[in-house]
Amino acid sequence: MDSSRRDFFRFLAASTVLAPSVRAWAQQLAVSHEPAVLMRAADALQVMDFEAAARRALAPAHWGYMASGVDDDLTLKTNVEAFRHVQMKPRRLVDVSKADLSTEVFGVRWDTPLFICPVGGQRAFHADGELATARAAKEKRHTMILSNVTTYSVEEVAKTLGTPPWQQLYMPLKWDETEKMVKRIEDAGCPVLVWTVDLLAGRNTPTMTRFAREDTRNCVACHVNGPGRPVHRPMYDGLEGRFNPPDATWATFERLKALTRMKVLLKGIDSAEDAQLAVRHGVDGLIVSNHGGRATETLRGTIDCLPEVVQAAKGRVPVFLDGGVRHGTDIYKALASGARGVGIGRPYIWGLSAFGQEGVERVLDILRAELTMTMKQMGTPTVKDITAARVVRA
Ligand code: GLV
Repeated sequence: MDSSRRDFFRFLAASTVLAPSVRAWAQQLAVSHEPAVLMRAADALQVMDFEAAARRALAPAHWGYMASGVDDDLTLKTNVEAFRHVQMKPRRLVDVSKADLSTEVFGVRWDTPLFICPVGGQRAFHADGELATARAAKEKRHTMILSNVTTYSVEEVAKTLGTPPWQQLYMPLKWDETEKMVKRIEDAGCPVLVWTVDLLAGRNTPTMTRFAREDTRNCVACHVNGPGRPVHRPMYDGLEGRFNPPDATWATFERLKALTRMKVLLKGIDSAEDAQLAVRHGVDGLIVSNHGGRATETLRGTIDCLPEVVQAAKGRVPVFLDGGVRHGTDIYKALASGARGVGIGRPYIWGLSAFGQEGVERVLDILRAELTMTMKQMGTPTVKDITAARVVRA
């Protein structure tokens, strides 16, 4: 509520000519208010504070692109809600004066299990786009998976990040373009290629379209024909640019694997059957993900898919998770359910949209602080203490 309306209700509440019931009603309206939208990143108390700040900062089409799931956005909501049905069982009287959040991934020590997920077209959210995210990742020492449909190239991001990122792949439709793309990524020094396999056959995004219709700006400078795909997609320079082959199979995965020395992860593996197949075909790691609810409607929340994937992987490859992570407790529950690392997408994009690099950093800081406190409160001060025994599914 804006301050003039609040003042008006205060005036009514104080008016002696009105009946007491009307004055009480006015008083109630005067004090009820929506949470104030953040003015500074430092004022955020929780990650969710950034959502409204991002909404305010973005034009409708750009907000709608990020906020959208598919169909009725149910998978998107389920990802978040599913964490609420996982409850934690704390241990008491453990020395928790210190916590160690570090973990090891592919022989590299990570400061924390939290990583940054690929999100495309980040200049739609802030002028510095992926470079602001890379600066924050560097400053806060988090692994970053770069999207394949970026507004800055992998080479530019690697320079800013100070190390090559992990790189997401949307496989081009033509195999020779896949070869060129993979070679470029390998030449940039990326150690890990993350093939997204959960969006090979299209999607409906009504929320995105509704917001785009509200947007009255002229978009021709940045988008093909106005609302079309972004004009500037540096990773597809020199390529035809169509991707996500619907005829991809496990044979395609083997072909991809044979093409590169990079570790190859599959992103979007949500069942035991596929986890077993992936391991059999030589995958180096799995990401339990449903594309942030942006690919298929009425899937399970990723936290509910995680245990069966972990069990099927039998410890042969690390399993990661993204989708719906908004709190330190969510990260904790994923770790307890067997995730080696836990990714965030929308939360850091909210921070980026509202405050650029500083917003991303604040989101990362909040989650790290929350995870630290959760680990201590749970009597599990190191990552290896966080086992399946610490959670139950309600
Ligand atoms: C890109 O990955 C998207 O979901 O739009």
